[in-house]
Amino acid sequence: MAKPRSQYVCQDCGAVAPKWAGRCEGCGAWNSLVEETVQRAPGGLAGGGGKAGGKIRFVDLQSESQPRPRLTCQIAEFDRVTGGGLVPGSAVLVAGDPGIGKSTLLLQVAARMAVPEPQGRGADCAYISGEESIDQVRLRARRMGLAQAPVQLASATSVRDMVASLDHPDGPAVVIVDSVQTLYIDSLESAPGTVSQVRAAAQELIRLAKKRGFALLLVGHVTKEGTIAGPKVLEHMVDTVLTFEGDRGHHFRILRAVKNRFGPTDEIGVFEMTDEGLSEVANPSALFLAERRGNIAGAAVFAGLEGTRPLLVEIQALVSSSPLATPRRAVVGWDSGRLAMVLAVLEARCGLALAGQEVYLNVAGGLRIGEPAADLAVAAALVSAATGQEVPEQTVIFGEIGLSGEIRPVSQVELRLKEAEKLGFTRAWIAPRRKQAKGKSAGRTGGQSLAVEEIAHLQDLVARLAAPESPQSGARIGRAQQSAYRQS
Ligand code: TYD
Ligand code: MG
Repeated sequence: MAKPRSQYVCQDCGAVAPKWAGRCEGCGAWNSLVEETVQRAPGGLAGGGGKAGGKIRFVDLQSESQPRPRLTCQIAEFDRVTGGGLVPGSAVLVAGDPGIGKSTLLLQVAARMAVPEPQGRGADCAYISGEESIDQVRLRARRMGLAQAPVQLASATSVRDMVASLDHPDGPAVVIVDSVQTLYIDSLESAPGTVSQVRAAAQELIRLAKKRGFALLLVGHVTKEGTIAGPKVLEHMVDTVLTFEGDRGHHFRILRAVKNRFGPTDEIGVFEMTDEGLSEVANPSALFLAERRGNIAGAAVFAGLEGTRPLLVEIQALVSSSPLATPRRAVVGWDSGRLAMVLAVLEARCGLALAGQEVYLNVAGGLRIGEPAADLAVAAALVSAATGQEVPEQTVIFGEIGLSGEIRPVSQVELRLKEAEKLGFTRAWIAPRRKQAKGKSAGRTGGQSLAVEEIAHLQDLVARLAAPESPQSGARIGRAQQSAYRQS
């Protein structure tokens, strides 16, 4: 038998080093190398063996047979994120912080998939938990009102056992494994949860999924420090990566496709955690705006886009004087580098000095925004917080800010405006639209109830928020008036 060999594996990126080092050469992470013993048992699951290669069989690209239909679960938010249902034979990784609700979500998905539809039969679903006992899973299912769902449960962690029981033609159509961190392959010496184990176990299950044509859903925990091995090294092995995010102080949970070989990425599904599990949120904008307290200085509503869906969220800013030499900047839900840029442009191009002030920025509801289109709404919240002048009531804002202070066009303007209108907003401050001549101001979208004002430069925005506007008049400040204001 070969002598066990030690190697050091980065638990972040999976890079292998022969010697321990404080910093991974592969990804630059500190303190991420962990000693793992590699020993391949002859003929073991992970071992290649020294057999002569067999022949591979080629087939024609053209084929008469129809591909098998996708497996949908009637949870619209989940089906949309997967790109219209699970593809048979594909592997999906559902990654997220511990306790965020991954097991809850997947149990619900399994239960809904297993329930027969009126016109057909439900899919055979197997839920294998390595973390909870069967009784615990049952208890959870009962609490969510799913106790009657025809789902097959098992509590197991050995990949060898799983392969042995699933490797036959009449196996289930959907297999959920919760979680990859608990899996182990007995021919590897390293502990469950290490990169070697996670990678080998996932590889083995993915290979079986392709062979037997079941959809494999793997749960993977990630921690903020990335100390637990897993999701990162699995990302390129699976077909689809879904992240389940949210902040534990809030009820909203967001399922996001970050990689999908069979559908669009950046699509999101919004859920709310309730006592009976996760419930779908069909109108997320209304939910994210629900906690809004009327009009206050420092708040602006951003009409964003998540995947194909418009989403309205409130951006809140607080500006206060600081006793510190380096005032604090804190951001929740947005990129801190982008905040620094907006602050710099406000200072350099609009003369708004915030350098000596503390700045706090928060995206309400625990959502994370990645779109540059949020720049203008962030700027509006910041200027409003600094001047104490509220953004006019029922106004949505979007646009990307360039370094010279110009506002750049963004995509899907009509979609964003329509959503704003649907939620009762009456005014929109937006980036100049692509097709129209630059700098054209107020106009209305064809016969609709939304007053749309295009903002060409950040100075226009600052002027609007510095100018006291009579609330009764409801009038929009024309460009002539604004320049007059600027000159005065
Ligand atoms: P869980 O699905 O176990 O998280 P994960 O698998 O991602 O680690 O969810 C755990 C949290 O969800 C826990 O804090 C309790 C909460 N929860 C509810 O609020 N309602 C419910 O019906 C269920 C099942 C869980
Ligand atoms: Mg769990």
